Amino acid sequence: MTVPESDPTQGARKTDPPSPVHPAPRSSARMLELVFPKDLNGHGTAFGGFVLSQMDKAASMAAIRHCQGNVVTARMEAVDFHLPIRRGDAVALEAEVIHTGRTSMRVKVDVFRETLATGQQELATSGVFVFVAVDDQGRPRPIERQEQSNHL
Ligand SMILES: CC(C)(COP(=O)(O)OP(=O)(O)OC[C@H]1O[C@@H](n2cnc3c(N)ncnc32)[C@H](O)[C@@H]1OP(=O)(O)O)[C@@H](O)C(=O)NCCC(=O)NCCS
Repeated sequence: MTVPESDPTQGARKTDPPSPVHPAPRSSARMLELVFPKDLNGHGTAFGGFVLSQMDKAASMAAIRHCQGNVVTARMEAVDFHLPIRRGDAVALEAEVIHTGRTSMRVKVDVFRETLATGQQELATSGVFVFVAVDDQGRPRPIERQEQSNHL
């Protein structure tokens, strides 16, 4: 059946282009990275500093989304390396703001090693990062309350 163009009750027409603007998650971020030879340590597994930098990147994006402005990393805490990440693995990161203070945010980050060919993921590293919302001069800036935040 052809939906008449003039009848808005019939929903989107087949020819309508998808809406180009979508709201991003408010307090979380996901990333997928590949492990290359330059990211390896002497044992042939991912260098810890590489994993930490990816965690910092994912966590900072969750924090920026949450406070809607610039942030700096204040602290990395409770980082546990559970499993080695191997050459050729993909690294899937999930970051989420779990607590908000006046100007600071605690962000939990889980890192999964993924075999792309099979799609299997295993928790390889986890940690909590603290970010501080800052103004243009790099001074701590109060975070406005979010109406739809996760677990806060
Ligand atoms: C993080 C920074 C902005 C804090 O500035 P400050 O003047 O010491 O700030 P305050 O003492 O007023 O603390 C501000 C908030 O940060 C928190 N905070 C500051 N240092 C912290 C730390 N090491 N660990 C956890 N939280 C910390 C405070 O608890 C406070 O939280 P709240 O407002 O939610 O209660 C400042 O120390 C800084 O610029 N550090 C360098 C950041 C950096 O270069 N990071 C790496 C690259 S991004």
